[in-house]
Amino acid sequence: AVLTEPIFSAGGVIEPPLGWLPELKRRCEERGMLLILDEEQTGLGKTGDTFAFEHEGVVPDIITLAKHFGGGICISSVTTSAEIEQRVVADEFIVTHSHSNDPLACAAGSATLDVLEEEDLAAQARRLGSYLKSKLHELAERFEIVGDVRGRGLLQGIELVLDRQTREPATTEGKAITERCLQSGLVFSVRREGSVLRFVPPASTTEEQIDRALDILADAHEEASR
Ligand SMILES: Cc1ncc(COP(=O)(O)O)c(C=O)c1O
Repeated sequence: AVLTEPIFSAGGVIEPPLGWLPELKRRCEERGMLLILDEEQTGLGKTGDTFAFEHEGVVPDIITLAKHFGGGICISSVTTSAEIEQRVVADEFIVTHSHSNDPLACAAGSATLDVLEEEDLAAQARRLGSYLKSKLHELAERFEIVGDVRGRGLLQGIELVLDRQTREPATTEGKAITERCLQSGLVFSVRREGSVLRFVPPASTTEEQIDRALDILADAHEEASR
């Protein structure tokens, strides 16, 4: 099987080019391999669709979920087709742990699915994500060090570079900017040794909060460029 994220989040918010996922699925089918998509970070509305794979109409064989699935309660899931499940059962493959089918965790996961649908979190991620992205583009216009703005929905990142031509990663500067942001109350995660700043705000974030975050980010860039 091939196991991959549809967008490489921890790898530095890297969105593969359009056509990559359908081609991967096609090649898996050609070889009789299953396509397993890890949607822990990208699933449940984050990227503007319920699942990131919907963006290109690809249907994977297996999907894994966790993280925000339980809204704070630990739950993970593996979802597949009835056909694959029957094969797994027939082969007597069983994985079980203390919390398998835990009713509390399942209730939390189920509540998340209800909220996802009722509040149309995917649409909210598209709307807020495009606002966040426009603000990050404004940042890139102001500061040469911002060499790329990328991501989908509420999974966005900026790549900091020493030179926009050579794209040499600005790791030291990225760490300094992150530290300044932290001191001002803005928390985000840093990938690629400090050169990629990743923003994954919750769907409940307001535009005002995004404005405030971008002000802090711009101030930190300003200080770093002195
Ligand atoms: C995409 C992805 N998959 C899987 C994991 C592992 O997560 P868990 O702690 O739920 O095992 C992570 C952890 O950050 C992740 O980012």
